[in-house]
Amino acid sequence: MKRAAKTVKADGKLESNGQHTLTLALPRGRILDEVLPLFRAAGFDLSAAEKSRAGRRLVIPVPEHALRVLIVRDTDVPAYVEHGAADIGIVGRDVLEEQGCDLYEPLDLGIGRCRLVVAEPEARPVDENAQIHLRYATKFPELTRRHLQARGIVAEIIKLYGSIEIAPVVGLADRIVDLVSSGETLRQHHLREVETILEISARVCVGRAAAKLHDERIEEIVGALRARVRY
Ligand code: PRP
Repeated sequence: MKRAAKTVKADGKLESNGQHTLTLALPRGRILDEVLPLFRAAGFDLSAAEKSRAGRRLVIPVPEHALRVLIVRDTDVPAYVEHGAADIGIVGRDVLEEQGCDLYEPLDLGIGRCRLVVAEPEARPVDENAQIHLRYATKFPELTRRHLQARGIVAEIIKLYGSIEIAPVVGLADRIVDLVSSGETLRQHHLREVETILEISARVCVGRAAAKLHDERIEEIVGALRARVRY
């Protein structure tokens, strides 16, 4: 792996050997815990990001690889990449599909696997043909809207920001559309899966401008990650 000199100029953008500093937008949370070992295996030691995360630093220079890491909310990753504030982002397919992003997706990392499902109370299954004014609670209104449209189901969508499984328990919704990984949260709330809408894993995304301007360096990173991905 080619390494840049360690000196970073004041703007944080150029290494002393002239190599452009690329900015990576990584999502905090579960995906980050899987992404950092993957980068390490690919030859990019981002342990500075791990240490800085504990110290609440969210912009982390990694000059030895001519990189800068931003730790952001997963739903914000596409905005950073789309507007060119980050050259490369890592984010779940759920976020990319919900936001309808216009980004290159050169690599499925095969980590952060989960499913977007429809679920309902075991004790109160929905009769789609007989019940009127169905309510679906979700963090993913756009994916839910598309699913309902495809199924020909008329329903109200209630947008929530977390703890979705509570909604049917307390009568806020008849069904939920939410992420399932182990299935434990559904079980704890006596919910059963009705169907899977989307299989999800984390993707590398690249903005169109960055892909043109820094194609060689981006391909160096994506290629190294690709060689380490296990599906
Ligand atoms: C996610 C998801 C489910 C849960 C599924 O929530 O929305 O609630 O994980 O995981 P499981 O199938 O392994 O139980 P998250 O922890 O991200 O928090 P949130 O409810 O605030 O979105």
